[in-house]
Amino acid sequence: MVVKGTKLTVVAVGPGDPQLLTLRGQQALQEADVVAGFQTVLNVVRPWLDRAEVRPMTYRDQEQVLGDVAAQARQGRRCVVCCWGDLNVSAGELLARVRRHVGQVDLIPGISSVQVACARAGISLEETLFITLHQRRDSTDELTELVRSLQGGQRHIILLPRPWDMMPASIAHHLLEAGLPADRPVTVYQRLTLEGEQEWRGTLAECADLSGEFSDLSIMLFPRPGESRD
Ligand SMILES: C[S@@+](CC[C@H](N)C(=O)[O-])C[C@H]1O[C@@H](n2cnc3c(N)ncnc32)[C@H](O)[C@@H]1O
Repeated sequence: MVVKGTKLTVVAVGPGDPQLLTLRGQQALQEADVVAGFQTVLNVVRPWLDRAEVRPMTYRDQEQVLGDVAAQARQGRRCVVCCWGDLNVSAGELLARVRRHVGQVDLIPGISSVQVACARAGISLEETLFITLHQRRDSTDELTELVRSLQGGQRHIILLPRPWDMMPASIAHHLLEAGLPADRPVTVYQRLTLEGEQEWRGTLAECADLSGEFSDLSIMLFPRPGESRD
């Protein structure tokens, strides 16, 4: 039940390194009575959860946890739901869920993994097309746009894969089958800002041949044509 006037705050916690949480986000967490989020997200903000009741959630029980948190918000408690990276980047499904429970949602943005990938690659967002496959719904349209943009586009492309059915090797396979050149360069960033961060560079053909598993925290970058990153 959505009750008008009930307020809840969504804090975007950044790409993994707790030092990249904003000061505004930190303040909201320190003042909160209740903080909910997926466990991996809560782990990032643990240093600021001293006083709050912490409500970890999973994909299975998120509706129930968000319902409980909204009920607490209706009783006047300060409630925060945490989201990974930035809340304007591939986080629409969680935001929509939160909005189904409360009338007013305050948003505190964060640093996205996409911004970190841009920083590592030395490119800017205005030169870049962003596509996410990280969603529950069918991604046929996004894959079509990806192929079209790789064939004719003039921008870099940053792509979020989907764990675990649309990961870098299978995406590269798909692109080769769609007729893209085998020597098209691609970079995969893993675990940006976290321990074990890695960067893999190669061609589409090499990427398609990779048998090792990439992290669920992986981002693909396709530099724009003619631009070498060496
Ligand atoms: C549901 S999306 C959420 C993105 C998030 N809102 C953001 O702004 O970074 C999760 C996907 O983002 C990417 N991602 C998030 N954090 C990452 C990191 N530290 N390193 C690499 N990729 C990351 C991965 O593709 C991951 O599967």
